[in-house]
Amino acid sequence: MYQSIRAAIETDFRAVNDFIVEQLYSEVTLVESIGHYIVEAGGKRIRPILTLLAARSCAIKTKQHIPMAAVIEFIHTATLLHDDVVDMSALRRGRPTVNVEWNNPSSVLVGDFIYSRAFQILVNIGNMNIMGIIANTTNRIAEGEVLQLITKNNPEASEIKYMQVIENKTAILFQAAAQCGALLGGASRSTEDAFKEFGMRIGTSFQLVDDLLDYAGDTAALGKNIGDDLAEGKPTLPLIHAMENGNSKQKLLIQEALKADQLSDEMLLEVIEIVRESGGLEYTHRLAKSHASAAEKCLNKVPKSNFRDALHTMVDFAINRKN
Ligand code: IPE
Ligand code: IPE
Ligand code: MG
Ligand code: MG
Repeated sequence: MYQSIRAAIETDFRAVNDFIVEQLYSEVTLVESIGHYIVEAGGKRIRPILTLLAARSCAIKTKQHIPMAAVIEFIHTATLLHDDVVDMSALRRGRPTVNVEWNNPSSVLVGDFIYSRAFQILVNIGNMNIMGIIANTTNRIAEGEVLQLITKNNPEASEIKYMQVIENKTAILFQAAAQCGALLGGASRSTEDAFKEFGMRIGTSFQLVDDLLDYAGDTAALGKNIGDDLAEGKPTLPLIHAMENGNSKQKLLIQEALKADQLSDEMLLEVIEIVRESGGLEYTHRLAKSHASAAEKCLNKVPKSNFRDALHTMVDFAINRKN
């Protein structure tokens, strides 16, 4: 599935990858070492692919979608370098995280470097409208991560707050990826709006599935450890649903687990079992699928092409992915 999405824009995809690697230059060796380490570990590049497909669907006549896609991936990469410090994660893209292989300060500071390199590239693109979108997007991602920080270990967590977190920390970047691609492609206002909504919807289902995979996925396929969210006291939707629908004993146990500084393996397994039993995983997947259908509807406003077909496949991938 993933390969067929990429195949639609393979030449562009290679150009973006080359551009990304080229843009990691620095006079400071540590910046380059860490930059290459995280970038060359792979990653699905799903957000830059979205930019490329949006631009091509709108029959872009310039090459500006190449640096634009790199900007989006750089912002994503920088947030991962910061996020793994905040979440104290040990595995990313099948490799030890930068915070483990080097240390926290290196991960944060190289994250800042990659973040600001994204803005240097953006200035070269020279489109004030797009600069405004990206400035607002990065601001909201930061807000989403802070909002998540304050809902951590909170047994009062609700689905409404959770949705607010995932829209900000994840979906908004998918939205910018799609909208900026469409804008550079010269989209009409209504097509631009359709892409904007498409990005928000696919991004929301992408994160819902990410949170599902944290309970039900496979470490080898994912390239990151599962069970991290619960271990960190992160109330994601599978857990919130279990908390709201379990019996009083189960509810109490989840609340205790959320508040705990450190969870025993026994408690972890017990909570995971409750999440499974309560239907929290199915519920999360259902919600992901409903956002995915809303995303597909947006594509009716996009001209027919093999790029639009690939966007449909991308929606499929967002909800059925294993990595
Ligand atoms: C991971 O994103 C962070 C989330 C927002 C879920 P991806 O799953 O796109 O990570 P890579 O880039 O492929 O490693
Ligand atoms: C990642 O959220 C969102 C951002 C990087 C802004 P997660 O913390 O859920 O992603 P993973 O599971 O570490 O990839
Ligand atoms: Mg994380
Ligand atoms: Mg996660």
